[in-house]
Amino acid sequence: MSRLGVDIGNVSLKSPLILASGTCNFGHELSEYYDLSILGGLSSKGLTIRPRVGNEGVRVAETACGMLNSVGLQNPGVDYFIEHDLDYMRSLGTGVIVNVAGHSFDDYMAMIDKLDPHKDKIDALEINLSCPNVKAGCMSIGSDPEQIREIVSAMRKRTELPLWIKLTPNVTDIKATALAAQSAGADAVVLINTMLGMVIDIRTRRPVLHNNTGGYSGPGIKPVAVRMVAECSAVLDIPVIGCGGIMDYKDVIEFMIAGASAVEIGTASLVHPACPVDITRDLEDYCNVNNILIKELTGTLNIW
Ligand code: FUM
Repeated sequence: MSRLGVDIGNVSLKSPLILASGTCNFGHELSEYYDLSILGGLSSKGLTIRPRVGNEGVRVAETACGMLNSVGLQNPGVDYFIEHDLDYMRSLGTGVIVNVAGHSFDDYMAMIDKLDPHKDKIDALEINLSCPNVKAGCMSIGSDPEQIREIVSAMRKRTELPLWIKLTPNVTDIKATALAAQSAGADAVVLINTMLGMVIDIRTRRPVLHNNTGGYSGPGIKPVAVRMVAECSAVLDIPVIGCGGIMDYKDVIEFMIAGASAVEIGTASLVHPACPVDITRDLEDYCNVNNILIKELTGTLNIW
């Protein structure tokens, strides 16, 4: 029997490892590297009502301990996804998480109305209230507890699909936004999306990214993410999914001790596409050696 199974509310996953939105598209490319059915789930690229080409010019920049991206929600649009990619994601033998983005309240409602009829193929909707790279919506909605409450409660009335709310770390008090999501009926929160940053080319004195700023991800943000998971899991009744700089099995364990019920792997897949194979093996070894189920780690932090 595998010791890696976890539950996010009513959603049972075979492993705590989920591929983070925007780092695996819809699975087609990564499936050439390993069998994606070892994963607990895969979160699609952030989808919008209409197709988007994304931001112009340079969109990624490496930096110490990670990278910045300003992709700008490039995606084929929800209709194309439903017609061409959703069945493929379902066929992978892993949890299907659909990441939903938008620029306004009406956009998010329209997305729910498009996806709800396909609920038999979807395990959870990950509501993206945190992309830092678009001018309207997303992060600006997700920085305001009042707007989170309004949008999540309206979604809650429209669908029975599990709602996982992906929150931004670019706020003063992450507990306030997480509690707002919970009070509006969210089934889980995902912590954290990227941190807003800038990298400057000292020769040109211009930002490297043509959007000027971008979302910082990778090991550099892990301590911030772990802190936010610990703070939120201490006050929430719903599960927390940890995300931010996970590179190996020890990082997964750290997030789970902090309070995460599952984790998302993003930047690490861009460095080593098949890293979940090693992480899965190492987590199994860890659980066998310590004679535990991985879910027993969640929230076992001993604070001073
Ligand atoms: O720019 C982007 O597409 C990033 C999306 C996100 O952070 O969710």
